[in-house]
Amino acid sequence: MKKEALDIDQSTIAIAQPAIEILHLKKAFGSKVVLNDFSLSVENGETVVVMGRSGIGKTILIKCIIGLVKPDGGSVRVFGKDISKLDHRQLDDLRMRIGFVFQSSALYDSMTVRENLEFPLRRDRRRKIDGNIDELVREALRNVGLEQTIDLMPSELSGGMRKRIGIARGLILKPEIVLYDEPTTGLDPITSEEITQLILSLQKKYKTTSIIITHDVDLAREAANRIVFLANGIAYLQGTYDELIHNDDPEVKHFFKR
Ligand SMILES: Nc1ncnc2c1ncn2[C@@H]1O[C@H](COP(=O)(O)OP(=O)(O)O)[C@@H](O)[C@H]1O
Ligand SMILES: [Mg+2]
Repeated sequence: MKKEALDIDQSTIAIAQPAIEILHLKKAFGSKVVLNDFSLSVENGETVVVMGRSGIGKTILIKCIIGLVKPDGGSVRVFGKDISKLDHRQLDDLRMRIGFVFQSSALYDSMTVRENLEFPLRRDRRRKIDGNIDELVREALRNVGLEQTIDLMPSELSGGMRKRIGIARGLILKPEIVLYDEPTTGLDPITSEEITQLILSLQKKYKTTSIIITHDVDLAREAANRIVFLANGIAYLQGTYDELIHNDDPEVKHFFKR
């Protein structure tokens, strides 16, 4: 009886590997140290919000997670795999499982909405995409409530619509992990709240693990299981929203506007 209980425990430990595990990450540009000794684990299904001043290294952090920026030291494991040990093909395979929503929406101005959404689907010709491309594009647009924009150019869209299309594109391959870089920055409060609700509904629908970089306290409150403050190159402070609103640290107070 006792032995059995122990076996079950061990298998539970094996399953509970974090989706993302960052250990002692270091990144400098010349003499400018951006990440110094940054460590963070994100559990499966968890939403971690990363806050911190502009230029502190938040975007660099998520670029390290998808291998767009090569760290100077430390390690990043995604689904248990050390990404620095992957070859091009393996890294591509991994990136198919991670959605990335860029700060600027990063839509191609010379392509229609449809072509922008098809881009991640056509990027890898070796791979057979599950399902019909047209149907995937329409589903992605339905998810963000913008089916009617399929043949428009990005210049014909409002800022909020561009963000929605950026989110639709980031999620079109139904990734297990989604990284959002300031999804509500530059939007008015009502549009920000709509984007927040959209992110929440997509998380619920697809049960994704997420990292959300934001300065938006309302988004952090509604979406975060945990908030991490990036300062001095490290995960300076972390806690739930309720824990942090009572925190007297100046870095934290600054964001919660007290
Ligand atoms: N390619 C680069 N070359 C030199 N410095 C860079 C480069 N990319 C980012 N940086 C610097 O790294 C710091 C962190 O950048 P970033 O992660 O974009 O900040 P943020 O927290 O605003 O997202 C900034 O000071 C920026 O100037
Ligand atoms: Mg940034």
